Amino acid sequence: MENRRVILSIAVSSLFVFSFVDSFSLDFYAASCPSAEFIIRDIVTSSSSNDPSIPGKLLRLVFHDCFVEGCDASLMLIGNNTEQTDPGNRSVGGYSVIESAKRALELLCPETVSCADIIALAARDAVGIAGGPMVQIPTGRRDGMVSLASNVRPNIVDTSFTMDEMVKLFTSKGLSVLDLVILSGAHTMGVAHCNAFRDRFQQDAEGRLTLVDKTLDSSYAAELMKQCSTSTMASTITVNNDPETPMVFDNQYYRNLLAHKGLFQSDSALLNENSTRTMVEDFANDQELFFENWGQAFLKLTSVGVKTEDEGEIRRSCASTNNA
Ligand code: HEM
Repeated sequence: MENRRVILSIAVSSLFVFSFVDSFSLDFYAASCPSAEFIIRDIVTSSSSNDPSIPGKLLRLVFHDCFVEGCDASLMLIGNNTEQTDPGNRSVGGYSVIESAKRALELLCPETVSCADIIALAARDAVGIAGGPMVQIPTGRRDGMVSLASNVRPNIVDTSFTMDEMVKLFTSKGLSVLDLVILSGAHTMGVAHCNAFRDRFQQDAEGRLTLVDKTLDSSYAAELMKQCSTSTMASTITVNNDPETPMVFDNQYYRNLLAHKGLFQSDSALLNENSTRTMVEDFANDQELFFENWGQAFLKLTSVGVKTEDEGEIRRSCASTNNA
């Protein structure tokens, strides 16, 4: 186990060299807005204690923001045919928390802190609040000017994706297979709508479900069928991604996978290949190992396609570009 730990950690570090420039650095706001990170954390903490679904929402938000146009808050822009309007983003939430933080920061340090940084820091804090590792991430991201629904499908993973398809998309963002396995661990938190895993069941005319994906544990499948059977699968009903510790950021996701209780087909797919199965086993056996590696992978995720210096702008409101 100790050897595996070293191998995994070295593999991750060697893939991502810390070569940030001043315009994208730790404590970027030290002079211009020293309490920026504190204010964001405060708002994420209070929003999460009022609404426990917030940490999960914020963690998904950063993933969907960073994979489309890079981590540039393109997902926050409202309007006809913006990213938010794509069905792939229909159930993404947490926007109001980002806007609250932005409003507070505009009062304190106008036109200084980007929405893109607020999204990344809020997701980082969400993990920490839920019991996960609190990692330091660089700031200095600038906000993008482009948000197109048509960019969502080609850049966001669907639950029907095979391992090859997932790896191809992650690789195109500079993320490795190991990053895919680690970042999928985010499914230790939050919820999913019944229709997000309907491909594992068949529904008859009366709305009754039968299990078609036999890789799923039968008692877990029965529980899902019970929870989703009160109305059609396309309903607004949600189930916990992690049936054991739904509110906690821990390594339970990997234990669930090994117990054949991965909610999405794309989760279970991580067991299909020896290399990824071994990673799943390692993280299931060792939460500390997962936490150590999470920091590196999260750093890579929140660095995808970052805009700095004279690229983009610092929006005054996250929902619209400054010239709108
Ligand atoms: C690798 C492929 C992935 C697929 C196919 C996938 C798919 C999904 C789907 C279908 C949902 C349920 C949405 C709903 O029905 O409301 C979901 C939820 C979620 N995903 Fe993923 N996801 C993936 C990776 C990630 C990554 C990399 C992260 C973050 C680092 C992430 C974080 C989350 C979180 C936290 C939730 C719960 C959201 C909430 O509670 O509102 N996912 N994901």
